[in-house]
Amino acid sequence: MPAAQPSMTAFALRPRLSAMAAMSAVGLGLLIAPAGIATADPAKSTTTSTSSRQAPDSLFPEVGSSRYNVKHYAIKLSYQTSGEIKAKTTVIAKTKKPLKSFSLDLEGLTVDAVKVNGDRADFSRRDNKLIIKSSKVLDGRFSVTIKYHGKPVTHIDPDGAKDGWIPTADGGVVVLSEPVGAMTWFPNNNTPRDKATFDMKITVPAKLEAAGSGDLRSVRKHDGLETWRWVQPKQQATYLAMIAIDNFDVYRSTMTTTTGRKLPIWSFIEPELGTQATARALIPKAIRYMERRFGAYPFNSAGIVVKDSDVDYALETQNRPVFDIDEGETVRELTNVHEWAHQWYGNSVTLSDWGDIWLNEGFATYAEWLWTASHGGQSTAERLQTEYDANPADDELWSPAPADFSNPADLFGSQGYLRGAMTLEVLQQEVGSRDFFVILRRWAQDNEYGNVSTREFIALSERVSGEDLDALFQAWLFTVGKPALS
Ligand code: ARG
Ligand code: ZN
Repeated sequence: MPAAQPSMTAFALRPRLSAMAAMSAVGLGLLIAPAGIATADPAKSTTTSTSSRQAPDSLFPEVGSSRYNVKHYAIKLSYQTSGEIKAKTTVIAKTKKPLKSFSLDLEGLTVDAVKVNGDRADFSRRDNKLIIKSSKVLDGRFSVTIKYHGKPVTHIDPDGAKDGWIPTADGGVVVLSEPVGAMTWFPNNNTPRDKATFDMKITVPAKLEAAGSGDLRSVRKHDGLETWRWVQPKQQATYLAMIAIDNFDVYRSTMTTTTGRKLPIWSFIEPELGTQATARALIPKAIRYMERRFGAYPFNSAGIVVKDSDVDYALETQNRPVFDIDEGETVRELTNVHEWAHQWYGNSVTLSDWGDIWLNEGFATYAEWLWTASHGGQSTAERLQTEYDANPADDELWSPAPADFSNPADLFGSQGYLRGAMTLEVLQQEVGSRDFFVILRRWAQDNEYGNVSTREFIALSERVSGEDLDALFQAWLFTVGKPALS
């Protein structure tokens, strides 16, 4: 990997960045649409959502709508150091059935005006819903533009964690939206089953930088301000859309994937946290490691954001995960590996319902086990045995069952992460490692950019292995209590 230099003066880096970004976008043949026009929509799963119920999610019945599908979000947001934003979000969507009124999720902020297909529309607010009444019946494709402003709120998750718009002590901000915080900074259909392409133009005072999910297209200076344009041409769930604003050191380099693709890497490191050279050097290694096991990296660029935000978790934001560390610390290697594994399992292949969180966290944790095994640590079989022996039957690990949550506060508990990973190792031991890796690769490939359910994973595992795996999954995913281990 070429040595990257931090941008000491923003000036030296910027012109190169924008020229580079524009070139690589052309070189990779990306289709980038101007704001307000949707890009092609390669893989939208239709298998999981047939209901016309308003609320699509079992654990968060208050968010999301099943009455339309979003194709594209165009977000223009300008940030003031006072912490206020002024923004305009355009949503391009398609109705499932003709409708006159519909809702988007939005928490906090003040809405100034709404237009539907260019016509001014009435709107009202109730709880975290923005309810919009169109003057005409909407049937098929429509656009809605929302102008809004204010100081965004931080969402508090059922587990007490901070989520959504998170101001940081140094006057910056980071947006981390798993599971439902995305509604604190732009109006959206806040369910992971409704993925879309994104185009974000983030304007900040010129002394700051704006990192984002997706690919960096340009950085433009104007009137003491800078506009950073981040484009996501691949399907992205709302919880994986990220911006982070700070006085960052910006590092850029390129890597070559195992299939010979050149990917730009843009990383944003808070200067007080050093260069995080080890963490940045891991990016190409982790991506190539996973490509050899899971298949081609699904996105067009990569990078990390490292910032002291006090959230106490990392997040796999698309193309560009975010790590929260304190001064004097470095990003943990296995956390870094974990967030890269999510680019396949979680980001490209996305759960349809939050109750299927083990499909994200069990897989990413299992990737940590694989990495450990290939770097001189325990084999995955030994790891399963160690964890099995270390967790007695009365440990919370065994309840609730990983694919049978009813309390959203359990989302990020050991059941989905650890028992989820254990389930995958039990599967490997049952079907053999050859079939197991075929399953992992086909899961990523067949569902690339789409949405999935646990039922579909079981079906794929049975198809590939030719075995009846009902009892195994029943015991490991759906039954409270410590399963027997043969
Ligand atoms: N998905 C993140 C990870 O596994 C964790 C997010 C935690 N979020 C929360 N609200 N507790 O790295
Ligand atoms: Zn995770």
